[in-house]
Amino acid sequence: ATADIGVTGLAVMGRNLARNLARHGHTVAVHNRSPEKTHSLVTDHGYEGTFVASESMADFVQSLKRPRAVIIMVKAGKATDAVIDELIPLLEEGDIVVDCGNAHFADTRRREEALKEHGLHFSGTGVSGGEEGALNGPSIMPGGSEHSYEKLGPIFESIAANVDGTPCCFHVGPDGAGHFVKMVHNGIEYADMQLIAEAYDLLRSGLDATPAQIADIFREWNRGSLESFLIEITADVLSHVDGRTGRPFVDIVLDQAEQKGTGRWTVQTALDLGVPITGIAEATFARSLSGHAEQREAAREVFPTTNELAWAADDREGFIEDVRKALYASKVVAYAQGYDMIKAGSDEYGWDIDRGATATIWRGGCIIRARFLDRIREAYDENPELPTLLASPYFVKAVSDGVDSWRRVVGDSARAGVPTPAFSSSLAYFDGLRRRRLPAALIQGLRDNFGAHTYLRTDTEGAFHTLWGSDKTEHKA
Ligand code: 6PG
Repeated sequence: ATADIGVTGLAVMGRNLARNLARHGHTVAVHNRSPEKTHSLVTDHGYEGTFVASESMADFVQSLKRPRAVIIMVKAGKATDAVIDELIPLLEEGDIVVDCGNAHFADTRRREEALKEHGLHFSGTGVSGGEEGALNGPSIMPGGSEHSYEKLGPIFESIAANVDGTPCCFHVGPDGAGHFVKMVHNGIEYADMQLIAEAYDLLRSGLDATPAQIADIFREWNRGSLESFLIEITADVLSHVDGRTGRPFVDIVLDQAEQKGTGRWTVQTALDLGVPITGIAEATFARSLSGHAEQREAAREVFPTTNELAWAADDREGFIEDVRKALYASKVVAYAQGYDMIKAGSDEYGWDIDRGATATIWRGGCIIRARFLDRIREAYDENPELPTLLASPYFVKAVSDGVDSWRRVVGDSARAGVPTPAFSSSLAYFDGLRRRRLPAALIQGLRDNFGAHTYLRTDTEGAFHTLWGSDKTEHKA
């Protein structure tokens, strides 16, 4: 046995991860269900490092040094369970199974529990950065036991993206912690993309600008506090011209956004945990709405839109700046909500996740990498128990500076009939948090009136119920 680590599942992500490992001097055992992919990997990229190719799972396992570390890189779901079932009888106590797919953290918890019974370790590991990241340095979010991280940590840290000498990888926590954090990462990715899309829509109709002109605005924004991978590629996509038609690419793409499910999982889990991640939820629902072609067509027929193009004609620069500030403030809210969710998951499952470290490993490699993550890390360095990111001094200033623009943009878009679900709900969340008295008091009153659900009072302890309609007004429940 000579291999340091193995990869089974050599579709593009697995293949690139294996190449990245080999390029960093690790001897990599490789295996795929159909052996052609294994052979082509070695033929095409053998010169990049040392691969040990096997056609059978048994040979693959035998080629690994102990404790063995086997990365599974297959489509999340049943395929993962099938590979695990195949591996179990071949592995020995102390060996480590690593699932680098986008698994649901509940599946990861179940698998970890099941493998423990066999004396095996299971590391549910989030990997972000797409194909490019897998090859050249992803952001890696490993969960699982300390024992597994002792073996995996040095290997993963060597192949992860690196920002200012710090690898974009840390031991997130036990069992499902890594996949949970990856799931929230994807939820934030959805919110980030929706906010960018709303900003684009506003600029396009507010300025009556072409996609190429808007690309230039995004390029400019990418030089400031919004600097991020997603803003950068937004400029690329908007300036792209379709080869077939010669039209702006964005105009020939069907306007129905798809999803593979991680955003949906984030929202479902947030509902269970009771965390208001409104930005991510709006982003997920906006994708669903876009896909409801039939309803859209029916509504278009009965409520034709007046084309409110170029409403910002008087002060174009001011409008662009307003949209930029609204985007930044909404983005801060989306992250504040995402980090609340990480805290809630960590508390619920006893993971003890370090939120500052999470921000650190998202600075490079992953889809949401951004300059702004340094600010988040600093906020948690200053106060690891920060109740909301919005309360950290840097973000207080950022949001306070942007709040007038934010209100103007949300107001303008409502008047013009341009939907901005993520911008508006983020503003409502911000106002909801800071409002002195919320109408939740009335909701409590209604609940007590129709269902005797009781309420707490501001002036004394204990749950109360009012005898509605009688002259005795209240009694302690
Ligand atoms: C990443 C991405 C990656 C992928 C998701 C989202 O971090 O590399 O998040 O995991 O882009 O699968 O895909 P959908 O938009 O299809 O849900």
